[in-house]
Amino acid sequence: MACQYFAPVEGGADTFTVAMPRLTFGRGCLRETGARAAARNIRRAAVLTDAQLRDGAYVATVLDSLNAAGVEAGVFSEVQIEPSDGSVLEAAAFLADGDFDGVISVGGGSVIDTAKAGMVYARYSAPFTDYFAPPVGAGQPVPGPVLPHIACPTTSGTGSECTSVAVIRINDLNTKFVLASPYLLPPEAVVDPVCAGTLPGNVVASTGFDLLSHAIECYTAKAYTGWPPGAEPARRQFLQGANPWSDLAAREALRLVGQYLARGVSDAGDSEARDSLMWAATLAGMAFGNSGTHLPHALSYGVTHLMRDIQTPGYPMPSPFVPHGISVIVNAPSVFRYTAAAAPERHLEAAGCLGADDRGAGPADAGEVVARRIIELMRVTHMPNGLGGVGFGEADVEPLTRSAVRQRRAIGNAPRETNDTDIENIYRNALAYW
Ligand SMILES: [Fe+2]
Repeated sequence: MACQYFAPVEGGADTFTVAMPRLTFGRGCLRETGARAAARNIRRAAVLTDAQLRDGAYVATVLDSLNAAGVEAGVFSEVQIEPSDGSVLEAAAFLADGDFDGVISVGGGSVIDTAKAGMVYARYSAPFTDYFAPPVGAGQPVPGPVLPHIACPTTSGTGSECTSVAVIRINDLNTKFVLASPYLLPPEAVVDPVCAGTLPGNVVASTGFDLLSHAIECYTAKAYTGWPPGAEPARRQFLQGANPWSDLAAREALRLVGQYLARGVSDAGDSEARDSLMWAATLAGMAFGNSGTHLPHALSYGVTHLMRDIQTPGYPMPSPFVPHGISVIVNAPSVFRYTAAAAPERHLEAAGCLGADDRGAGPADAGEVVARRIIELMRVTHMPNGLGGVGFGEADVEPLTRSAVRQRRAIGNAPRETNDTDIENIYRNALAYW
Protein backbone atom coordinates (compact mmCIF):
# COMPACT_ATOMS: atom_id res chain seq x y z
CA MET A 1 0.00 0.00 0.00
CA ALA A 2 1.14 3.54 -0.68
CA CYS A 3 0.41 4.76 2.85
CA GLN A 4 3.55 4.95 4.95
CA TYR A 5 1.85 3.42 8.00
CA PHE A 6 1.38 0.19 6.03
CA ALA A 7 4.89 0.01 4.65
CA PRO A 8 6.10 -3.60 4.32
CA VAL A 9 7.78 -5.03 7.41
CA GLU A 10 10.32 -7.85 7.28
CA GLY A 11 8.44 -11.03 8.23
CA GLY A 12 5.12 -9.16 8.48
CA ALA A 13 1.78 -9.76 6.78
CA ASP A 14 1.26 -8.36 3.32
CA THR A 15 -2.46 -9.15 3.09
CA PHE A 16 -5.59 -8.23 4.99
CA THR A 17 -9.13 -9.61 4.78
CA VAL A 18 -12.37 -7.63 5.05
CA ALA A 19 -15.41 -9.49 6.38
CA MET A 20 -18.82 -7.87 6.52
CA PRO A 21 -22.42 -8.92 7.02
CA ARG A 22 -25.06 -8.01 4.46
CA LEU A 23 -26.05 -4.74 6.08
CA THR A 24 -29.41 -2.94 6.03
CA PHE A 25 -29.65 0.47 7.70
CA GLY A 26 -32.57 2.84 7.97
CA ARG A 27 -35.52 4.04 10.01
CA GLY A 28 -38.13 1.30 10.20
CA CYS A 29 -35.99 -1.42 8.63
CA LEU A 30 -36.68 -3.82 11.54
CA ARG A 31 -39.91 -4.49 9.64
CA GLU A 32 -37.80 -6.18 6.94
CA THR A 33 -36.45 -8.81 9.32
CA GLY A 34 -39.07 -11.45 8.53
CA ALA A 35 -38.68 -11.15 4.78
CA ARG A 36 -34.92 -11.29 5.17
CA ALA A 37 -35.14 -14.42 7.31
CA ALA A 38 -37.45 -16.09 4.79
CA ALA A 39 -35.06 -15.18 1.97
CA ARG A 40 -32.40 -17.13 3.85
CA ASN A 41 -34.71 -20.14 4.00
CA ILE A 42 -35.17 -19.76 7.73
CA ARG A 43 -38.45 -21.47 8.62
CA ARG A 44 -38.17 -21.56 12.42
CA ALA A 45 -36.22 -18.77 14.08
CA ALA A 46 -34.99 -18.39 17.64
CA VAL A 47 -35.46 -14.76 18.68
CA LEU A 48 -32.96 -13.86 21.40
CA THR A 49 -33.53 -10.76 23.50
CA ASP A 50 -33.47 -9.60 27.13
CA ALA A 51 -36.13 -9.07 29.77
CA GLN A 52 -36.11 -5.28 29.27
CA LEU A 53 -36.92 -5.53 25.58
CA ARG A 54 -39.08 -8.67 25.60
CA ASP A 55 -42.46 -6.91 25.79
CA GLY A 56 -41.41 -3.79 23.89
CA ALA A 57 -42.03 -2.44 20.42
CA TYR A 58 -38.83 -3.66 18.74
CA VAL A 59 -39.30 -7.33 19.55
CA ALA A 60 -42.99 -6.99 18.58
CA THR A 61 -41.99 -5.52 15.22
CA VAL A 62 -39.60 -8.38 14.56
CA LEU A 63 -42.13 -11.03 15.62
CA ASP A 64 -44.86 -9.45 13.47
CA SER A 65 -42.55 -9.38 10.46
CA LEU A 66 -41.54 -13.01 10.98
CA ASN A 67 -45.19 -13.99 11.24
CA ALA A 68 -46.06 -12.05 8.08
CA ALA A 69 -43.26 -13.84 6.24
CA GLY A 70 -44.42 -17.27 7.40
CA VAL A 71 -41.45 -17.82 9.72
CA GLU A 72 -42.20 -19.51 13.07
CA ALA A 73 -40.52 -17.99 16.10
CA GLY A 74 -39.47 -19.10 19.58
CA VAL A 75 -38.42 -16.37 22.01
CA PHE A 76 -35.58 -16.62 24.54
CA SER A 77 -35.54 -13.51 26.73
CA GLU A 78 -33.25 -14.62 29.56
CA VAL A 79 -30.13 -13.07 28.07
CA GLN A 80 -28.01 -11.66 30.85
CA ILE A 81 -26.50 -8.18 30.57
CA GLU A 82 -22.74 -8.87 30.51
CA PRO A 83 -23.21 -12.52 29.47
CA SER A 84 -21.29 -15.25 31.27
CA ASP A 85 -20.41 -18.85 30.46
CA GLY A 86 -23.43 -19.87 32.57
CA SER A 87 -25.91 -17.61 30.78
CA VAL A 88 -24.51 -18.51 27.35
CA LEU A 89 -24.98 -22.21 28.12
CA GLU A 90 -28.64 -21.52 29.02
CA ALA A 91 -29.12 -19.88 25.63
CA ALA A 92 -27.26 -22.77 23.98
CA ALA A 93 -29.63 -25.28 25.60
CA PHE A 94 -32.63 -23.30 24.31
CA LEU A 95 -31.16 -23.29 20.82
CA ALA A 96 -30.25 -26.97 20.89
CA ASP A 97 -33.71 -28.02 22.07
CA GLY A 98 -35.81 -25.88 19.73
CA ASP A 99 -35.20 -27.36 16.28
CA PHE A 100 -34.32 -23.89 14.96
CA ASP A 101 -32.78 -23.20 11.57
CA GLY A 102 -31.88 -19.56 12.23
CA VAL A 103 -31.35 -16.99 14.98
CA ILE A 104 -32.51 -13.37 15.23
CA SER A 105 -30.88 -11.32 18.00
CA VAL A 106 -32.69 -8.13 19.07
CA GLY A 107 -30.81 -6.07 21.65
CA GLY A 108 -27.51 -4.57 22.66
CA GLY A 109 -24.10 -6.18 22.60
CA SER A 110 -25.00 -8.63 25.36
CA VAL A 111 -27.83 -10.09 23.31
CA ILE A 112 -25.89 -10.29 20.04
CA ASP A 113 -22.84 -11.79 21.77
CA THR A 114 -25.02 -14.35 23.57
CA ALA A 115 -26.50 -15.37 20.22
CA LYS A 116 -23.05 -15.78 18.67
CA ALA A 117 -21.57 -17.81 21.51
CA GLY A 118 -24.78 -19.72 22.26
CA MET A 119 -24.89 -21.02 18.69
CA VAL A 120 -21.35 -22.35 19.04
CA TYR A 121 -22.09 -24.34 22.20
CA ALA A 122 -25.48 -25.49 20.89
CA ARG A 123 -23.73 -27.21 17.99
CA TYR A 124 -20.25 -28.11 19.25
CA SER A 125 -19.76 -29.71 22.63
CA ALA A 126 -16.46 -28.88 24.27
CA PRO A 127 -15.23 -27.54 27.60
CA PHE A 128 -16.32 -23.88 27.57
CA THR A 129 -12.88 -22.31 27.40
CA ASP A 130 -11.51 -24.56 24.64
CA TYR A 131 -12.36 -21.95 21.99
CA PHE A 132 -10.87 -19.05 23.95
CA ALA A 133 -7.29 -17.90 23.43
CA PRO A 134 -4.56 -18.69 25.97
CA PRO A 135 -3.90 -18.09 28.79
CA VAL A 136 -7.57 -18.56 29.72
CA GLY A 137 -8.42 -21.12 27.05
CA ALA A 138 -7.00 -23.86 24.88
CA GLY A 139 -6.97 -21.77 21.70
CA GLN A 140 -8.91 -24.33 19.69
CA PRO A 141 -10.65 -22.93 16.60
CA VAL A 142 -14.44 -23.07 16.51
CA PRO A 143 -14.87 -26.23 14.41
CA GLY A 144 -17.31 -25.01 11.78
CA PRO A 145 -20.35 -22.94 10.84
CA VAL A 146 -23.24 -22.07 13.13
CA LEU A 147 -26.87 -21.22 12.31
CA PRO A 148 -27.66 -18.24 10.05
CA HIS A 149 -27.86 -15.17 12.29
CA ILE A 150 -29.59 -11.85 11.68
CA ALA A 151 -28.33 -9.32 14.24
CA CYS A 152 -30.57 -6.35 15.09
CA PRO A 153 -28.79 -3.92 17.45
CA THR A 154 -30.92 -1.63 19.64
CA THR A 155 -28.10 0.49 21.07
CA SER A 156 -25.65 2.80 19.33
CA GLY A 157 -22.33 1.46 20.50
CA THR A 158 -21.53 -2.21 20.36
CA GLY A 159 -20.95 -2.75 16.65
CA SER A 160 -21.25 -6.46 17.43
CA GLU A 161 -23.50 -6.92 14.41
CA CYS A 162 -20.39 -6.37 12.27
CA THR A 163 -17.84 -8.44 14.19
CA SER A 164 -16.74 -12.03 14.57
CA VAL A 165 -16.22 -11.85 18.34
CA ALA A 166 -18.28 -12.29 21.49
CA VAL A 167 -17.21 -10.96 24.88
CA ILE A 168 -18.12 -13.40 27.64
CA ARG A 169 -17.49 -13.39 31.40
CA ILE A 170 -15.89 -16.62 32.61
CA ASN A 171 -17.49 -16.98 36.04
CA ASP A 172 -14.70 -18.96 37.68
CA LEU A 173 -12.22 -16.23 36.78
CA ASN A 174 -14.76 -13.42 37.29
CA THR A 175 -13.56 -11.57 34.22
CA LYS A 176 -14.38 -11.17 30.54
CA PHE A 177 -12.58 -12.73 27.62
CA VAL A 178 -13.05 -12.66 23.87
CA LEU A 179 -14.36 -15.61 21.87
CA ALA A 180 -13.29 -15.06 18.26
CA SER A 181 -13.92 -16.99 15.08
CA PRO A 182 -14.80 -16.05 11.50
CA TYR A 183 -17.87 -18.28 11.99
CA LEU A 184 -19.23 -15.84 14.58
CA LEU A 185 -19.72 -13.01 12.07
CA PRO A 186 -23.48 -12.58 11.53
CA PRO A 187 -24.20 -13.03 7.83
CA GLU A 188 -26.86 -10.32 8.06
CA ALA A 189 -27.39 -7.17 10.15
CA VAL A 190 -30.50 -5.02 10.32
CA VAL A 191 -29.74 -1.66 11.94
CA ASP A 192 -32.78 0.48 12.65
CA PRO A 193 -31.89 3.85 14.21
CA VAL A 194 -35.45 4.25 15.50
CA CYS A 195 -34.23 2.01 18.37
CA ALA A 196 -31.79 4.73 19.48
CA GLY A 197 -34.61 7.22 19.97
CA THR A 198 -35.79 5.69 23.23
CA LEU A 199 -32.42 5.16 24.93
CA PRO A 200 -31.76 7.08 28.18
CA GLY A 201 -29.11 9.78 27.80
CA ASN A 202 -26.57 8.02 30.01
CA VAL A 203 -26.87 4.84 27.91
CA VAL A 204 -26.25 6.92 24.77
CA ALA A 205 -23.19 8.36 26.52
CA SER A 206 -21.75 5.01 27.60
CA THR A 207 -22.38 3.30 24.27
CA GLY A 208 -21.19 6.40 22.42
CA PHE A 209 -17.84 6.26 24.20
CA ASP A 210 -17.61 2.57 23.37
CA LEU A 211 -17.98 3.35 19.67
CA LEU A 212 -15.60 6.31 19.97
CA SER A 213 -12.98 4.07 21.51
CA HIS A 214 -13.55 1.31 18.95
CA ALA A 215 -12.89 3.82 16.19
CA ILE A 216 -9.82 5.49 17.66
CA GLU A 217 -8.31 2.16 18.76
CA CYS A 218 -8.68 0.85 15.20
CA TYR A 219 -7.12 3.96 13.77
CA THR A 220 -4.15 3.86 16.14
CA ALA A 221 -3.69 0.07 16.26
CA LYS A 222 -0.50 -1.57 15.10
CA ALA A 223 -0.47 -1.80 11.29
CA TYR A 224 -1.51 -5.16 9.87
CA THR A 225 1.95 -5.35 8.32
CA GLY A 226 3.33 -5.51 11.87
CA TRP A 227 1.61 -8.84 12.56
CA PRO A 228 3.11 -12.07 11.24
CA PRO A 229 1.17 -13.63 8.35
CA GLY A 230 -1.20 -16.32 9.58
CA ALA A 231 -0.41 -19.93 8.72
CA GLU A 232 -3.94 -20.51 7.44
CA PRO A 233 -5.30 -17.63 5.34
CA ALA A 234 -8.92 -18.85 5.50
CA ARG A 235 -8.77 -18.57 9.29
CA ARG A 236 -7.36 -15.02 9.27
CA GLN A 237 -8.77 -13.45 12.39
CA PHE A 238 -10.56 -10.17 12.74
CA LEU A 239 -7.76 -8.94 14.95
CA GLN A 240 -5.28 -8.26 12.19
CA GLY A 241 -4.27 -4.69 12.96
CA ALA A 242 -5.04 -1.35 11.34
CA ASN A 243 -5.57 -1.51 7.60
CA PRO A 244 -6.94 0.77 4.86
CA TRP A 245 -10.48 -0.58 5.30
CA SER A 246 -10.61 -0.02 9.06
CA ASP A 247 -9.10 3.45 8.53
CA LEU A 248 -11.91 4.36 6.17
CA ALA A 249 -14.70 3.39 8.54
CA ALA A 250 -12.95 4.61 11.70
CA ARG A 251 -12.36 8.14 10.37
CA GLU A 252 -16.03 8.66 9.55
CA ALA A 253 -17.15 7.12 12.86
CA LEU A 254 -14.86 9.54 14.71
CA ARG A 255 -16.16 12.52 12.76
CA LEU A 256 -19.77 11.59 13.55
CA VAL A 257 -19.28 10.82 17.24
CA GLY A 258 -17.26 14.01 17.71
CA GLN A 259 -20.03 16.04 16.11
CA TYR A 260 -23.10 14.35 17.60
CA LEU A 261 -22.28 12.71 20.94
CA ALA A 262 -23.12 15.64 23.24
CA ARG A 263 -26.31 16.42 21.30
CA GLY A 264 -27.43 12.78 21.28
CA VAL A 265 -26.88 12.45 25.02
CA SER A 266 -28.67 15.65 26.01
CA ASP A 267 -31.71 15.46 23.72
CA ALA A 268 -33.61 12.24 22.99
CA GLY A 269 -35.64 14.16 20.43
CA ASP A 270 -32.58 15.04 18.34
CA SER A 271 -33.07 12.32 15.74
CA GLU A 272 -30.31 13.71 13.51
CA ALA A 273 -27.82 13.16 16.33
CA ARG A 274 -29.18 9.80 17.49
CA ASP A 275 -29.43 8.40 13.94
CA SER A 276 -25.89 9.56 13.23
CA LEU A 277 -24.60 7.85 16.39
CA MET A 278 -26.30 4.62 15.31
CA TRP A 279 -24.56 4.80 11.95
CA ALA A 280 -21.28 5.71 13.63
CA ALA A 281 -21.56 2.63 15.88
CA THR A 282 -22.06 0.41 12.85
CA LEU A 283 -19.13 2.06 11.06
CA ALA A 284 -16.93 1.55 14.11
CA GLY A 285 -18.04 -2.10 14.17
CA MET A 286 -17.04 -2.46 10.52
CA ALA A 287 -13.67 -1.01 11.48
CA PHE A 288 -12.82 -2.93 14.64
CA GLY A 289 -14.40 -6.10 13.28
CA ASN A 290 -11.58 -6.06 10.73
CA SER A 291 -8.69 -4.68 12.78
CA GLY A 292 -9.26 -5.34 16.49
CA THR A 293 -9.09 -2.95 19.40
CA HIS A 294 -6.11 -2.45 21.71
CA LEU A 295 -5.25 -1.07 25.14
CA PRO A 296 -8.42 0.82 26.21
CA HIS A 297 -10.43 -2.38 25.71
CA ALA A 298 -7.76 -4.64 27.18
CA LEU A 299 -7.57 -2.45 30.29
CA SER A 300 -11.37 -2.22 30.59
CA TYR A 301 -11.49 -5.90 31.51
CA GLY A 302 -9.44 -5.21 34.62
CA VAL A 303 -12.03 -2.59 35.60
CA THR A 304 -15.03 -4.91 35.24
CA HIS A 305 -13.11 -7.69 36.96
CA LEU A 306 -12.26 -5.72 40.08
CA MET A 307 -15.07 -3.14 40.36
CA ARG A 308 -16.83 -3.09 43.73
CA ASP A 309 -19.72 -1.28 45.33
CA ILE A 310 -20.52 0.77 42.25
CA GLN A 311 -23.77 1.31 40.40
CA THR A 312 -24.63 3.32 37.33
CA PRO A 313 -27.98 5.12 37.32
CA GLY A 314 -30.27 4.04 34.49
CA TYR A 315 -29.06 0.44 34.33
CA PRO A 316 -31.17 -2.33 35.89
CA MET A 317 -28.10 -4.02 37.33
CA PRO A 318 -27.15 -4.73 40.95
CA SER A 319 -23.87 -3.40 42.33
CA PRO A 320 -21.12 -3.74 41.28
CA PHE A 321 -21.78 -2.62 37.72
CA VAL A 322 -19.87 -0.33 35.38
CA PRO A 323 -21.20 -0.23 31.79
CA HIS A 324 -18.75 -1.43 29.17
CA GLY A 325 -18.34 1.96 27.47
CA ILE A 326 -17.47 3.62 30.77
CA SER A 327 -15.02 0.88 31.72
CA VAL A 328 -13.25 1.57 28.41
CA ILE A 329 -13.26 5.37 28.32
CA VAL A 330 -11.98 5.93 31.88
CA ASN A 331 -8.66 4.51 30.67
CA ALA A 332 -8.62 5.94 27.15
CA PRO A 333 -7.07 9.41 27.63
CA SER A 334 -4.21 7.89 29.62
CA VAL A 335 -3.70 5.18 26.99
CA PHE A 336 -3.50 7.65 24.11
CA ARG A 337 -1.06 9.88 25.99
CA TYR A 338 1.12 6.75 26.14
CA THR A 339 0.58 5.34 22.62
CA ALA A 340 0.86 8.63 20.72
CA ALA A 341 4.65 8.46 20.71
CA ALA A 342 4.50 5.42 18.42
CA ALA A 343 2.14 6.91 15.85
CA PRO A 344 1.83 10.67 16.44
CA GLU A 345 0.38 11.52 13.03
CA ARG A 346 -2.42 8.98 13.44
CA HIS A 347 -3.28 10.27 16.90
CA LEU A 348 -3.39 13.85 15.59
CA GLU A 349 -5.55 12.84 12.64
CA ALA A 350 -7.93 10.98 14.96
CA ALA A 351 -8.14 14.02 17.24
CA GLY A 352 -8.89 16.19 14.20
CA CYS A 353 -11.70 13.84 13.13
CA LEU A 354 -13.11 14.06 16.66
CA GLY A 355 -13.24 17.84 16.39
CA ALA A 356 -10.23 18.68 18.58
CA ASP A 357 -8.66 22.10 18.41
CA ASP A 358 -5.36 21.00 16.89
CA ARG A 359 -4.18 24.36 15.58
CA GLY A 360 -0.43 24.60 15.83
CA ALA A 361 -0.10 21.08 17.25
CA GLY A 362 2.88 19.00 16.19
CA PRO A 363 3.78 15.33 16.64
CA ALA A 364 4.99 15.90 20.21
CA ASP A 365 1.55 17.24 21.18
CA ALA A 366 -0.45 14.38 19.65
CA GLY A 367 -1.21 12.43 22.84
CA GLU A 368 -2.23 15.56 24.72
CA VAL A 369 -4.48 16.82 21.92
CA VAL A 370 -6.41 13.59 21.60
CA ALA A 371 -6.61 13.04 25.38
CA ARG A 372 -7.93 16.57 25.95
CA ARG A 373 -10.63 16.16 23.32
CA ILE A 374 -11.83 12.86 24.89
CA ILE A 375 -11.79 14.42 28.36
CA GLU A 376 -13.78 17.39 27.03
CA LEU A 377 -16.43 15.01 25.67
CA MET A 378 -16.43 13.04 28.95
CA ARG A 379 -17.07 16.18 30.95
CA VAL A 380 -19.94 17.50 28.84
CA THR A 381 -21.64 14.10 28.98
CA HIS A 382 -21.13 13.72 32.77
CA MET A 383 -18.86 10.69 32.64
CA PRO A 384 -16.94 9.55 35.74
CA ASN A 385 -13.62 11.30 36.26
CA GLY A 386 -11.29 8.44 35.40
CA LEU A 387 -10.79 5.30 37.47
CA GLY A 388 -11.31 7.28 40.68
CA GLY A 389 -14.81 8.11 39.45
CA VAL A 390 -15.71 4.41 39.40
CA GLY A 391 -14.29 3.62 42.83
CA PHE A 392 -10.63 2.77 42.20
CA GLY A 393 -7.57 4.20 43.91
CA GLU A 394 -3.78 3.92 43.90
CA ALA A 395 -3.92 0.61 45.80
CA ASP A 396 -5.85 -0.94 42.89
CA VAL A 397 -3.26 -0.18 40.23
CA GLU A 398 -1.26 -3.34 40.73
CA PRO A 399 -4.25 -5.75 40.87
CA LEU A 400 -5.78 -4.04 37.82
CA THR A 401 -2.53 -4.59 35.96
CA ARG A 402 -2.35 -8.26 36.93
CA SER A 403 -5.87 -8.74 35.60
CA ALA A 404 -5.40 -6.85 32.34
CA VAL A 405 -2.11 -8.43 31.24
CA ARG A 406 -4.00 -11.63 30.41
CA GLN A 407 -5.55 -9.85 27.38
CA ARG A 408 -2.43 -10.64 25.39
CA ARG A 409 -3.65 -10.32 21.82
CA ALA A 410 -5.36 -6.94 22.33
CA ILE A 411 -2.27 -5.64 24.14
CA GLY A 412 -0.19 -6.89 21.21
CA ASN A 413 -2.38 -4.85 18.84
CA ALA A 414 -1.20 -1.57 20.41
CA PRO A 415 1.17 0.52 18.32
CA ARG A 416 3.82 0.28 21.08
CA GLU A 417 5.43 -2.73 22.69
CA THR A 418 3.78 -2.64 26.11
CA ASN A 419 5.06 -4.23 29.31
CA ASP A 420 3.50 -4.62 32.75
CA THR A 421 5.16 -1.46 34.08
CA ASP A 422 3.71 0.55 31.20
CA ILE A 423 0.24 -0.79 32.00
CA GLU A 424 0.67 0.10 35.68
CA ASN A 425 1.61 3.63 34.68
CA ILE A 426 -1.34 3.92 32.30
CA TYR A 427 -3.73 2.89 35.08
CA ARG A 428 -2.04 5.26 37.56
CA ASN A 429 -2.36 8.15 35.12
CA ALA A 430 -6.04 7.29 34.58
CA LEU A 431 -7.07 7.74 38.23
CA ALA A 432 -8.31 11.31 37.66
CA TYR A 433 -8.29 13.74 34.72
CA TRP A 434 -9.77 16.91 36.14
FE1 LIG B 1 -16.35 -2.18 23.08
